[in-house]
This record gives sequence, C-alpha cells and structure tokens, in this order.
Amino acid sequence: MPALVTCQRPIEPHTRRVHVLITAGPTREPLDPVRFLTNRSSGKMGYALAQAFIHAGHSVLLISGPTALDVPERVDFIPVETAAEMHAAVAHCLARMDIAVFAAAVADYTPARVAPHKIKKAGATLTLELVRTPDILGAARSGFGFSGTLVGFAAETEHLEANARAKLVGKHCDLIIANDVSTAGCGFDSDTNEVLLVYPDHNEALPAASKLALAHRLVTAIVALHERPGN
Ligand code: PMT
Repeated sequence: MPALVTCQRPIEPHTRRVHVLITAGPTREPLDPVRFLTNRSSGKMGYALAQAFIHAGHSVLLISGPTALDVPERVDFIPVETAAEMHAAVAHCLARMDIAVFAAAVADYTPARVAPHKIKKAGATLTLELVRTPDILGAARSGFGFSGTLVGFAAETEHLEANARAKLVGKHCDLIIANDVSTAGCGFDSDTNEVLLVYPDHNEALPAASKLALAHRLVTAIVALHERPGN
C-alpha cells in the first residue's frame, strides 16, 4: 500500500458532511526500468471534483496516478502509479466511504512481464504481450461490497449515451458522467469539459464549462443523489 499523506488542517463543520473517495489521473504500467504505458489524463477533472467537494464542506480522499497538479488543500491523498496499486488503495479505503467517484483513466491492459533491464533494440518490430488490469469501478459493488453512492465516468468517442448506459448497468453505478473525448475542449488534458449525466431513468446534459465550474455542478448532483429518499 502506498503511504497515506493526511492533511492535519481541521475540516469545516458541515451539517451533512459525507466521506468521498475520488480516483483521478492516469496510471503508468511499467515495461522496463525506464519505460511505461500511460494515457493523456492530466488529473484536472478529478482534482477539480476533490476541490469542489471540499468547498461544499465534505471530506475527500483522493487516490491519484501521477499528475503535475498540486493536491487541493484539506484533501487526504494516496499517490499511486499502476492500476494494481490504485486497485489496492481503493480496496483498502472504500468501505468507510459514503460516495465514490471514479474519474481516473485506468489502463485497461498492462505488460505481462516487466523487463528487469532496459529493453534493447533488436529486430525491426517488437511485440508486447499485455494482460487485463483489474476493473476497479466494476469491483466496487461485487468485489468490495460498497453500498454507498457509486459514480463512474465514461470516456467515449462514439455512441456516448449507449456506451455510458452499458457502463451504468454493467458496473452497478448510480450515475455515469459521460464525456465525448473526441470533441475539442472535452475530456483528456483540457481545462474545460462537457458531460452527459446518465442516470438509471433519465439523462441530463451539462453544457461546456471549466472543469472547476462543472465540478461544482457535479457535486450538487452527486450529493442530491446520495440524499435521495431511501438512501
Ligand atoms: O484527467 P483529465 O485530463 O482532466 O481528463 C478527464 C478524464 C477524461 C480522464 C475524465 O473525465 C474521464 O472520463 N475519466 C474516465 C476515463 C476512462 O478511463 O473511462 P472508461 O470509460 O475507460 O472507464 C469507465 C470507468 O471505469 C471510469 O470511471 C474509470 O475510472 C473506471 N475504470 C476503468 C478501467 C479500470 N481498470 N478500472 C476502473 O475503475
């Protein structure tokens, strides 16, 4: 388990303060001591959500892959590198959370073997064998027994609503925040985003906005979902 860096600053009291776990950023899957497979996630969306939940008076544990961002004030933080490390950190912490939001872009595949030494150039081509990583969001209900409010993201380049709805059902989520990452100003490494909220019984489109402005709207929607009657 990576070290937990806990902020000592007291958290402002809030009448309905909830504990929120957020995953953010990319993962890095090592190939050899100097190379890894990764993606273009900057962490901005997940860190903006962490900041917005804190601003609303809640407590946040941010589990993040490597980014260039500062950890928002008053956020508890677990840095991770690989999908396996993120999986272990979530497994360790999820049970004590009320809400979990999975904004990380977790690698779906990782090298089957990590070379102990730098891979040398040899032939004209190099074939890598990759194996599936654990589906962390997919394990939240069935693997980790999480019964709180479960929110996933869907990064899509086509059939936004249909693909997001399949993730909502398949991963037993209460809400999927879908972004079309082929649109300019949306998704990976952008300062802005535009999302479709996909609930079990309806959708709601949120217009393009800065990731922080959008995060404030998302926090309102997620907390309302958490406080709905029967929860
Ligand atoms: O970080 P930024 O640059 O700000 O970009 C933001 C973002 C584009 C990364 C973010 O808005 C986003 O869409 N995050 C999810 C990216 C993604 O990998 O989506 P997916 O459709 O492949 O995965 C679906 C869901 O399963 C996601 O909640 C993901 O965190 C989760 N997942 C995926 C694979 C895996 N092995 N474990 C997971 O938990």
